[in-house]
Amino acid sequence: MDTGEENKDFYQDAQVLLESVLQELLLRVNLLRRYQVLYGQRDPVEHCKGRIKSAESMREKLARKGLPVTLESALNDVYDAVGIRIVCQFVDDVYRMVDILKRQEDMVLVKEKDFIKNPKPNGYRSYHMIVKLPVHLPDCTRELYAEIQLRTIAMDCWAALEHELKYKQTIPNQELLQKELKRCSDEMASTDLTMQTIRQVIDHHEE
Ligand code: GTP
Ligand code: MG
Repeated sequence: MDTGEENKDFYQDAQVLLESVLQELLLRVNLLRRYQVLYGQRDPVEHCKGRIKSAESMREKLARKGLPVTLESALNDVYDAVGIRIVCQFVDDVYRMVDILKRQEDMVLVKEKDFIKNPKPNGYRSYHMIVKLPVHLPDCTRELYAEIQLRTIAMDCWAALEHELKYKQTIPNQELLQKELKRCSDEMASTDLTMQTIRQVIDHHEE
C-alpha cells in the first residue's frame, strides 16, 4: 500500500477534516504575514510548512504511548495528527508570532511548552503550542487538535541534524556527536541573540 492509501485506510473520513485544519492553519499564518507587511512591519516568518502525520508514524506513536491504535485515539489522545512549523529569522519574531496566535479567539490554546527558555537536555530549542480548532460540518461542529512548532532558522537547522543522528543508531561516536550537537545548540542560541541585537540597532537607526 502506498502512503496515501495507507493514510486513507487509517484516518478514513477524518482525513478531509485533518486536511482542512492543516490548510486553515497555513492560511491563517499566511494572512498574518501579509497583513504585517501591508502595515510596514517586517515579515516575522521566514517560512512555514505543515504535514499530516503519516498513518505509519501515528500507529507507532499510539503504540509507544500505550494507547489503543484507533482513529479515535489518534484524534483525541494525540495532539499532532496535524502539525505546522513556523520558522522565523529571529527569536523575537517567534515570540511575536506566539502572541499573535494566542489572540485568535476561535483557536483554543490547550498546552504550550517553551523549549527556547527551557531547552531540552540534548539542546533542542523550539516553542510548541497545542491548539484546538473548530471544523464546521453540515450538521455539526467538530474540534480538532493541532501542534504548532515555532523556531528560528538556526534552531530548525539544528533540529533537522539532531533528528538524523537519532535515526542512525549505527553511527560510531554517538556520544561525542551528541555532546558536539549540544555545544552547537548553545552557540547558536547565543548567536541568535547577538544577531537579534544587531538587527534591533539597524531597525532603530534613523538616517
Ligand atoms: P512526541 O511523542 O515525540 O511527539 O513528544 P511529546 O508528545 O512529548 O511532545 P514534545 O513537545 O516533546 O515533542 C513534539 C515534537 O517536537 C516531536 O514530534 C518533534 O517534532 C519535536 N521534538 C521534540 N523534541 C525533539 C528533539 O529532541 N529533537 C528534535 N529534532 N525534535 C524534537
Ligand atoms: Mg511528535
